[in-house]
Amino acid sequence: MIQSNVNLQPHNTFGLESIAKNFATFGTIDELKALLLHNQTAQHELLVLGGGSNILLTQDFDGLVLKNDLKGIEMIGEDGNDRLVKASAGENWHDFVLYAIEHNLGGIENLSLIPGSVGASPMQNIGAYGVEIKDVFHELEALNIETLAIEKFDSKMCSFGYRESVFKRTLKGKYVILSMTLRLSKDHQLNTSYGAIENQLAEMNIDNPTIKNVSDAVITIRQSKLPDPKKIGNSGSFFKNPVIGKAQFDALKAKFPTIANYPIDENHIKLAAGWLIDNAGWKGKRIDNYGVHKNQALVLVNYGGAKGRDIYNLSEAILESISATYGVDLEREVNII
Ligand code: EPU
Repeated sequence: MIQSNVNLQPHNTFGLESIAKNFATFGTIDELKALLLHNQTAQHELLVLGGGSNILLTQDFDGLVLKNDLKGIEMIGEDGNDRLVKASAGENWHDFVLYAIEHNLGGIENLSLIPGSVGASPMQNIGAYGVEIKDVFHELEALNIETLAIEKFDSKMCSFGYRESVFKRTLKGKYVILSMTLRLSKDHQLNTSYGAIENQLAEMNIDNPTIKNVSDAVITIRQSKLPDPKKIGNSGSFFKNPVIGKAQFDALKAKFPTIANYPIDENHIKLAAGWLIDNAGWKGKRIDNYGVHKNQALVLVNYGGAKGRDIYNLSEAILESISATYGVDLEREVNII
């Protein structure tokens, strides 16, 4: 059933008000097909929402919002110590991580507590603490909006990149992700190489960590740095970490000796956008009811009642400031609507 004039505030983690002219939830693939078929005549612009954790709503939405509520997690295959686990796109991402931990399946424990839905996770190739979805991805199923056929995508077809996939580029707006299958392992090699995890495990006095211990460590780190969207509206990292060339990096390093960086290859260096923004004086800056988070400069926050437009303008000011200070162009990670 399509509802009219629905406030999207409860459906985005920034907690921004935006009125959707048309809004419907689908809990089955048949319901989704019926809605899309109806829209082939109505021709509304579509916005498919999962957890709403990676969007900034800057205005009302004149089209049709489809809220993905497809549910279910099941083990669908076994291959030695590996298990294929399929989750429907409307499942909460962290609930999927908890399912894996309960079944002693490793691979996504470093991705604990990332807000959002299962369906959005491959679209974004979510990542944290040295792990990305693409590392454990097996396949996904998506509905072709034009033909209404269900199609399968393997890792190669998804063209995963850093917070990128084909669904954010050439296939943008052409598919609705229905489910994702991951290859998780009973005999998993934990990845605790990320400094913050090692330190946290040491603080917890854990020498031989389990999957659950790593998840608990990640949860503790995230809670100390990142605001809980249930309390303070936000969408995680607002900008991506930029990659620059060696010559530009050497010049910056001479000027800013403590600049946080991760070499990628001989000629490319990834910079920590959080460091750039922090060092340019933005961390903790508050303007009325929105601002830059006090513990992590990559995160923009809505303290309550802010407008998406204001947060967008703040992001513009940050982009300009970073360009002027370092000659580096940042890119937004969040989708602007
Ligand atoms: N830093 C600062 N000031 C800040 C923030 C960071 O100086 O305000 C410095 C830190 O001290 C560190 C470096 O910047 O030296 C990197 O910071 P951090 O380890 O916190 O990670 P990040 O690069 O800011 C990325 C991801 C996060 C992910 C973490 C952990 C992006 C855009 N962000 O953040 O992902 O959780 O690493 O792996 O890649 C997200 O995408 O929404 C997200 C939260």
